[in-house]
Formats: sequence, C-alpha cells, structure tokens
Amino acid sequence: MPNILVIAHRGASGERPEHTIESYRLAIEEGADYIEPDLVMTRDGVLIARHENEIGGTTDVAQHPEFAARRRTQSIDGETMTGWFTEDFTLAEIKTLRARERLPELRPQNCAFDGKFPIPTFDEILELATAANIRRGGARKIGVYPETKHPAHFAGLGLAQERPVLDALQRHGYGAAGSPVFIQSFDPRNLRELRGMTSLPLIQLLQHELGDLAEFAKYADGIGIAKVLATPEGVRAAHAVNLKVHVWTFRAENEFLPDDLKSGPAPAAHGNLEGEIRRFLDRGIDGYFCDFPAVGVRVRDAYISGVQLLHQPLTATNLPGNRPQGR
Ligand code: G3P
Ligand code: CA
Repeated sequence: MPNILVIAHRGASGERPEHTIESYRLAIEEGADYIEPDLVMTRDGVLIARHENEIGGTTDVAQHPEFAARRRTQSIDGETMTGWFTEDFTLAEIKTLRARERLPELRPQNCAFDGKFPIPTFDEILELATAANIRRGGARKIGVYPETKHPAHFAGLGLAQERPVLDALQRHGYGAAGSPVFIQSFDPRNLRELRGMTSLPLIQLLQHELGDLAEFAKYADGIGIAKVLATPEGVRAAHAVNLKVHVWTFRAENEFLPDDLKSGPAPAAHGNLEGEIRRFLDRGIDGYFCDFPAVGVRVRDAYISGVQLLHQPLTATNLPGNRPQGR
C-alpha cells in the first residue's frame, strides 16, 4: 500500500501565523506526519524558523524604534532586498519580536494572532516534537523536514548552516539513520555538502524544471517540486531513478486553486482543496506540503482506504468506519 506523507508546510500555516510554535503544535494535533521549518541564522549563529532572512514581512520589527537603523538594502542570492535581516540580530534581540501573518488579505482570521507569538529556534521546534513523541508513547514519531534558506549567503557571512542543522537534529534524537527526517534545499551545493556529513535523507527542491534527475539521485533521496512540475510523466521519471516525489504547496484559498476547483471569485474563500490533492495523489506522489494539515491528512487517509478497498473484499472489519485510527 502507498505510504504518502503529509508535511505541514510552515506548520498549520493556513490557521496560525507561519513558523510559530503554535503553528507547529496545531499541525501535530491535526496528525501531520512531518512539520516543516524553514531555517535562517541569527548574528550569533542560532538557527531560527523564518521563510527568509528578511523579517519585515512576518514580524513586528518595523514597530520597534530601537531597530529602525538596522533597515538596509542588500543583494541575497542575486536579488536586491530591503528590510531587516536576521543576520543583523542576536537571538536575544529576535526574541523581543513577535510574528505577524504573512498573508493578511487571504488569511484575515490569522491576524488575530499577530503580536502574540515569538520567533522559535530550531531547538525549540525539536523540543516541541520531542514532547509530542513522549505523549504518544511508542507510537510513530513526529517527522521534521527542515529547509536551509539562503545557505550560500549565510556561509559567506561565516554562518554556515550545515553543521548547526545536523547538530540540532542529533541533540534531539533525530540524528540517527532511520530517523523521520528529510533535509531540503534549493541549493545543490548545500545538499552535496550535507551528503558528505550525514546519511539522513536529502531532498532537492525544484521550482521551474525537473532538470537532470539522474544527477540529483547521486546525492539526494528525493525531489520536492512545485505542483506545475508534478505531471504523471515527471513523477514516473523521478521514480525511475529512485527519487521520492514530494509536492508543494497545497492551500485551500481560491487564490491558489485551479479555476475549476475555486468556490467563487473571492480570493480568500476556501475552494475544493480536497479535489486538488486527490488529483495529485492519482499521479503517484509520495508526499505533499500542505498549509492545512487536517485536510491533507483526511484526504490522504481516505485515498489510502480507497486503495485498500480496491485490493480487499469488503468485510465488517475493513469498512472505513471500522478500521483502527492512528496513522
Ligand atoms: O520547502 C518546500 C516548499 O516550502 C518550498 O517553498 O518557498 O514555501 O519554502 P517555500
Ligand atoms: Ca520550505
């Protein structure tokens, strides 16, 4: 039977401001297999969870007059950015900030949490996972799926991420072979370096084209690809060179859905996310990043139940409502 992973993208980021402990906590409660932190570095070398090192868009740093002079413009991976950058802040300074919703127009209900939640470190996220694992007893461990953001930029500042990521995983019991971990990056140099340092699974992220899959298979265990790349042919080609296929990003708002699955013209209204996920499950993908893990888990479980029913005659014990829970 297929083992299809539901990866909570930036936590349950459709329901809480992304990359906060509360977002990850909700994702765990909703049954996600993996939680996904994007990681950047502070000036004093601490990994924190933010989607990018510019933090004006997802924190209240602009409301802190003591940091006004830190606003600047710089080039990051070839793109000119203006704002406040994590490498200019110590962890103690970052801890004085609070998270804000990235998409207030599309997720106005999340704005109720603006100003409430601090920015978590990678260690704090792993502590959250460990506490959940203890509560679960011997049941399946929460997986962690960290992404190194701007690794070349940080390495150039003397803040290389590879060793700190691996050390943090090791500290929290996620370092051994077989641990439920995937480390992901868009940067092949970062992944090649990690390959020389760990046997944990690595994921090459791809956005615009699939590229040389056989080459990726030399150092990666899978690809994390934008939906547009996840055609049936693309999935088959990746599987042919033993690469897992994880797809991003599944979101409920009409803004992110194809026209035939929208619920109307309002971009923030929720459309038929279930239908979109099912389309991709039919292509044989191995996992997917979802901002609404409760929906992702429900659709995945129903899909797998359907596959099982195709292979088993219906009996009193394998009817969907009678099967044991707890995937
Ligand atoms: O990591 C998978 C997906 O999250 C990549 O895109 O920009 O959301 O980190 P992004
Ligand atoms: Ca990511």
